[in-house]
Amino acid sequence: MKNIYSNIYPFSKKVLKKTTKILKEGDLVSLPTETVYGLAGNAYSKKAINKIYKLKKRPKNNPLIIHYLNIKNATKDVIINDNFLKLYKKLCPGPVTFVLKKKSKSKLNMLATAQLNTVAIRFPNHKIIRSVLKHINFPLAMPSANLSSRLSPINALDVFDEFHEKLKIIINGGNSKIGIESTVVDLTEKPRILRPGIISSSEIKKIIKIISLKKKTKLISPGMLSKHYSPGIPVYINKKPKNLKDAYLVFGKKFKNKNNYFNLSKKGDLKEAASNLYRTMRKVKKKGFKRIFVSKIPNIGIGVAINDRLKRASN
Ligand code: TXA
Ligand code: MG
Repeated sequence: MKNIYSNIYPFSKKVLKKTTKILKEGDLVSLPTETVYGLAGNAYSKKAINKIYKLKKRPKNNPLIIHYLNIKNATKDVIINDNFLKLYKKLCPGPVTFVLKKKSKSKLNMLATAQLNTVAIRFPNHKIIRSVLKHINFPLAMPSANLSSRLSPINALDVFDEFHEKLKIIINGGNSKIGIESTVVDLTEKPRILRPGIISSSEIKKIIKIISLKKKTKLISPGMLSKHYSPGIPVYINKKPKNLKDAYLVFGKKFKNKNNYFNLSKKGDLKEAASNLYRTMRKVKKKGFKRIFVSKIPNIGIGVAINDRLKRASN
């Protein structure tokens, strides 16, 4: 069968070689990770970083996450501490990002970190990106592969929908298992969660002490927009649909099957609901629904991350 998407490739040795060549030249590719698909570029290259901001239409005060293969590579750019080591040992590689202080001799491009003296770093757990990281001698700046303020992509076709042929390579690694972005933990001062994710605060609390954020604290990550993760149609949370033309995202077994009902997890599993969230919102939009209503999702554990994304989508 002919591949109609000229830039979507399954992973192979040949594609790996082509990918590393593109990255070394300061160009961009899209790679799968366990959370969402990323738009990857050389974090030391001004050319690559400029391209990322331009292609995503991302405000330049919103710093990027820098992805490393291992701790040894990361210590070239950041100052590590005990809390980081504890979390790294238990959770990495995995769906968690750490904000640490930048080393003065770091070669990270200034714009990649939005001129800050801190850096967000992550060690992704997906064999394709780990294999790419093994074959290059620089870290990858990698935001989610979507236009700024849109939903993160969870498979190669989602990325294609965002950037079409503007990328030379989108590596197809199937659906991202987790389906929402990593948990971001600030470790520069008293540890705190900046962005909730699949690694919940209680999981982190078992490893280190964290301070809880006051409910009213807004815009905790630099450049973090309150409108974000938008499917491109209005989203209403904790509200019932008005008619059959409204899509209704529901959670749990008490909901019947109806044409405009989309169950994030029939068995009431928050992890499953998180992995279905963006997929379902994209599907609903493609089906032609003009509005999305969402039933109540329990605000515990992973539910906190789901509600965070829904709240931003509804802004
Ligand atoms: O799962 C993920 O984290 C995905 C995959 C591709 O790795 N990446 C991702 O990147 O979600 P992005 O660019 O969409 O989100 C980066 C988040 C933003 O909320 C940004 O504000 C925060 O990380 N961030 C980056 N650098 C920071 C810093 N120095 N201090 C605080 N927050 C930072
Ligand atoms: Mg993003």
